[in-house]
Amino acid sequence: MIFRSIRHSISTQFGKAQIATKILVIIMLAVITALTASGVALIVGDRILEKSRMEESVSALAQIIGSNTAAALVFRDTEALNETLALLNRRYNIIAACIYDDAQRIAGLYIRTNDPFICPPFKPGPEVEFLRGEIWVREPVVLEQRQIGTLLLVSDLREMRQAIRFHIVVIVAVLFLALFMAYILSRRLRHLVSGSLLKLIKTAQLVSEKQDYSIRAETSGEDELSILTGAFNHMLSRIEQYNHERERLLNEAQEGVRARDEFMYIASHELNTPITPLKLQVQFIRKMAAAKQLTPEFSDKLEKMLIDSERHIGHMAGLVENLLDVTRIASGEFRLELEPVDLNALIQSIVRRYHSEIAASRSEVTLRLEEIKPCMWDRARIEQIVVNLLENALKYGEGKPIVITSRTEGGKAVFAIRDHGIGISSEEQSNIFKQFGRAVPYRHFGGLGLGLYITLKIVKAHHGEIRVESQLGQGSRFIVELPLSIQKV
Ligand SMILES: Nc1ncnc2c1ncn2[C@@H]1O[C@H](COP(=O)(O)OP(=O)(O)OP(=O)(O)O)[C@@H](O)[C@H]1O
Ligand SMILES: [Mg+2]
Repeated sequence: MIFRSIRHSISTQFGKAQIATKILVIIMLAVITALTASGVALIVGDRILEKSRMEESVSALAQIIGSNTAAALVFRDTEALNETLALLNRRYNIIAACIYDDAQRIAGLYIRTNDPFICPPFKPGPEVEFLRGEIWVREPVVLEQRQIGTLLLVSDLREMRQAIRFHIVVIVAVLFLALFMAYILSRRLRHLVSGSLLKLIKTAQLVSEKQDYSIRAETSGEDELSILTGAFNHMLSRIEQYNHERERLLNEAQEGVRARDEFMYIASHELNTPITPLKLQVQFIRKMAAAKQLTPEFSDKLEKMLIDSERHIGHMAGLVENLLDVTRIASGEFRLELEPVDLNALIQSIVRRYHSEIAASRSEVTLRLEEIKPCMWDRARIEQIVVNLLENALKYGEGKPIVITSRTEGGKAVFAIRDHGIGISSEEQSNIFKQFGRAVPYRHFGGLGLGLYITLKIVKAHHGEIRVESQLGQGSRFIVELPLSIQKV
């Protein structure tokens, strides 16, 4: 439990530390672990070596003493024996020496001053034992190849301990020195790792502060951090792209809303304009009818008014029909009713029908029609094309001459209408075929901006093409090409 809470608090503290500190701690722990492991291995090996060295040295000493005391032991000269053994007092690590004769009795002994050692009962040799921090060596005393006794030599392991202690001190010193050097090195070199990370963090902060996704983090090398930086930069590019796309969609949506508002304004005006004269005309007719004044003069006036009302109603019906066409196109319910259509006859009949509008526009309309055989088209829709283009030519033609031509060319009927009016700038030319696309301000020219859009859709439904050639102030020429035979759509 305690261990777990300590571990938890260490990992929390470590989690809060900066990357550079973490790197430092990891390097120091690695150095400590490596050096401690190798230090322990060295000390264990050292102990084994020291033990065998001690064993060799005490055994060699026992052999020398054995051979030096052999003569005195044969003659049972205890005094001489003890004198020889007393020489051991120069070797401070020797605790005791006991010599046993062939009857296994103690014949001579040496015990280090102030050591409470008692010679143990005889035990045969040769033998080496490590007991309670001491080394006990039993060595036979031999004279002329005959064992005449046994020597027990007891030594402490002070020498060995001192050597090991010295090695531990050296290892600890090396450990501290290595730690110090690792600390200095890691402090100097940590920028190699944390440097790019810090740069990445700075870039991220800058991006979020300025909301500028065009900023990029610097990349160098091919390590994991560089991969991370690359991924971060890639993510920024995606966000930038996404923002551009969002901005584009937003602009489009705003433009759509603006166009819709403008359209609502124009549509309501267009629909409202004929209502006022219609109202006045109906009021007048009602008054006259109430007065029961059906004089010839009144009849003439009434006829004129009814013709005018019919024109206004026709205009309104045309507007509503255009709006319905837009809905039909949007819902995909735009179908053709194919029948043989004589284009030239159709143009002529439309021009005849529009004689009062042509007269009002003061434009002179000339027809140059070459022979075209009747083709399988949608009569009402082809009529719509001619009417839309003729109405535009009259509206924007500034009362100047209008020429309508038709001919066949390469399996197509080519019909063109040329005016010499206000013309259209090249920038606006692609715009005018769009829904509500207009190149003139509404206060100068009325209109919903739907005529050419619907015309384009009808031409496309007939697998044909429509294009405009125009220059601002130089008039326009709209050219329609329709295949002479089309499949029913
Ligand atoms: N013959 C032309 N000369 C100059 N500009 C033209 C001509 N025909 C069309 N335009 C321009 O193209 C725009 C789009 O024409 P379109 O017929 O689609 O709409 P509109 O005439 O404005 O309205 P409506 O929906 O009543 O036809 C016009 O507003 C006008 O700016
Ligand atoms: Mg028009």
